Amino acid sequence: MDDKILSISESVKWIGVLDEKIKTFDIIMTTEYGTTYNAYFIDAEKKAIVETAKEKFYDLYLAKLEAVVNPAEIEYIIVNHTEPDHSGSIRRILELAPNATVVASAPALKYLQDQIGYDFPKQVVKDGDVIDLGDKRIRIISAPSLHWPDTIYSYLEEEQVLFTCDSFGAHFCRKEMFDDLVGNYNESYQYYFDVILKPFSKFYLKAIEKIKDLDIKVVCPGHGPILRTTWNEVIAKTEAMCQDYLEHNPEKNRILIAFVSAYGYTKTIAEKIKKGLEEVGGLHIDFCDIESMPQAELADKISRASAYLIGSPTINQNMLPQIYELFSIMTPLRDKDKLAGCFGAYGWSGEAERNIITNMENLKLNYVGESIFIRFRTQERDFERIQNYGKKFGFLVKGQE
Ligand code: FEO
Repeated sequence: MDDKILSISESVKWIGVLDEKIKTFDIIMTTEYGTTYNAYFIDAEKKAIVETAKEKFYDLYLAKLEAVVNPAEIEYIIVNHTEPDHSGSIRRILELAPNATVVASAPALKYLQDQIGYDFPKQVVKDGDVIDLGDKRIRIISAPSLHWPDTIYSYLEEEQVLFTCDSFGAHFCRKEMFDDLVGNYNESYQYYFDVILKPFSKFYLKAIEKIKDLDIKVVCPGHGPILRTTWNEVIAKTEAMCQDYLEHNPEKNRILIAFVSAYGYTKTIAEKIKKGLEEVGGLHIDFCDIESMPQAELADKISRASAYLIGSPTINQNMLPQIYELFSIMTPLRDKDKLAGCFGAYGWSGEAERNIITNMENLKLNYVGESIFIRFRTQERDFERIQNYGKKFGFLVKGQE
């Protein structure tokens, strides 16, 4: 059994959980190297905990917590973010800690109310607030949208320990836990950044700016290794990753033509639209049959494009699964207002058109208001109309400059 408790600083202990066996996280992420749910105890005059653990691991988490403190003595529960992989055990801990006040941002307390289901002692905090633990102080650093609106960092001033929740974390499980002991985990760090935090790069940079002048000895993220030797380079690397992402996402005048084609009919339409776009000039056209494209590659293309042309045949009165997957990767947080059009071939009827447009509208894309859908094979007489559609779309994209 994992009963490991680690000393982070004079008064901070890691009482988190190792989850080596997890295969997928949040349904969407593969976790080849497992993960950890990092939780911490601060042994101050007023005893505090930072984060808890996923409810599935409550018994193990509680055993570790009870090994360092009587829960009834806890006065503060600092909640940096309320995704249940960190907050899932709070409800049951509160039953054992009647003297505890939950400290969190306003949105976090709202979300927690719905997670816990009953009223509980709470204190809302904002940027710069300080929680007095008697002989120690915790300063609150607001870091919204990393990756939920509720996020804060917390900083134990006397020992220069910074708790950052998902920021600077990774799904990487090694019982050694410290960055200087776990070996190279760059691949996991990059993957975690790409999937969880990258879309929020603008907010990440703001948070990094706020912690730049802090004296830091240890960065304690919510997942993966604790950064006691490499925090400086990890923060610098993350800052560069965010800057690079923002520089290239989206790229001006970059149009993604993404389609699938059962018999080549939809592909023909795609090619003619592309021809029309080429007549406009100055556009970067990413022309992709996405039938067997890996999701990570598709996600990168979606992110980088400033406009989309999506093509699907209609089969059995529906669009194709690859197009559903494409829409599942889009997010209004990043892709809202991008110009979008659609096309496809069909046989009996053309339901894919309505499906695509509805998805575009639901995702808050800027649907161009026109589409090209043709029954069976595109004939020569249609070529000019299709090329003109591409040309018109291209000029609209250029007009967005
Ligand atoms: Fe690890 Fe967003 O929770």
